[in-house]
Amino acid sequence: MINVAIILGSTRPGRNGEAVAKWVYELAGRRSDAKFELVDIRDFNLPLLDEPVPPSMGRYSKEHTKAWAARIAPFDAFVFVTPEYNHGTCGALKNAIDFLYAEWNNKAAGFVSYGSAGGVRAVEQLRLVMGELQVADVRAQVMLSLRDDFENYSKFKPQAHHEKSLNTMLDQVIAWGTALKTVRQK
Ligand SMILES: Cc1cc2nc3c(=O)[nH]c(=O)nc-3n(C[C@H](O)[C@H](O)[C@H](O)COP(=O)(O)O)c2cc1C
Repeated sequence: MINVAIILGSTRPGRNGEAVAKWVYELAGRRSDAKFELVDIRDFNLPLLDEPVPPSMGRYSKEHTKAWAARIAPFDAFVFVTPEYNHGTCGALKNAIDFLYAEWNNKAAGFVSYGSAGGVRAVEQLRLVMGELQVADVRAQVMLSLRDDFENYSKFKPQAHHEKSLNTMLDQVIAWGTALKTVRQK
């Protein structure tokens, strides 16, 4: 069975992302075809990228980078939970992604996004980033509307149909995450 990290990207106080990530984790936990863990990037207190050598060189010097790398390295696949900020993902998530390189390579990823337009623009940006990191991003995604899935834009109440989308996305993440294990073992 593969290990999948559900990565909570938003770090701000009062973030909607926390309820979304917990919902993903709760529904994913009902499956028996992968193991899931919730990873909150806020727990790592990452500063803005402060490594002198580009992460693709794999020479991490700071303790916070090493801790973050150690958390991400064991996973086979990722589900990024992202808000949309100014038509992109949030800076905290992009920064946390930029900190590492090899820990992301040859793995799979899916997305759960939220925003006034379902966070789709944030995910389109993230897909470009995934290409550079050699992450295989799956087609299915969960797009949550601030208007229709959050009461008063703040209390998370997802419409029932999102559960099916979530499981379709997870099916794809698990399939590709499993397949790519063979690439990493070579
Ligand atoms: C800096 C900022 C920029 C935002 N820009 C957008 C945007 O471009 N499109 C959108 O749909 N929502 C936008 N929003 C609304 C957020 O998607 C919404 O507040 C969401 O709950 C933020 O996620 P969070 O609560 O987990 O931090 C923005 C919010 C913030 C704080």
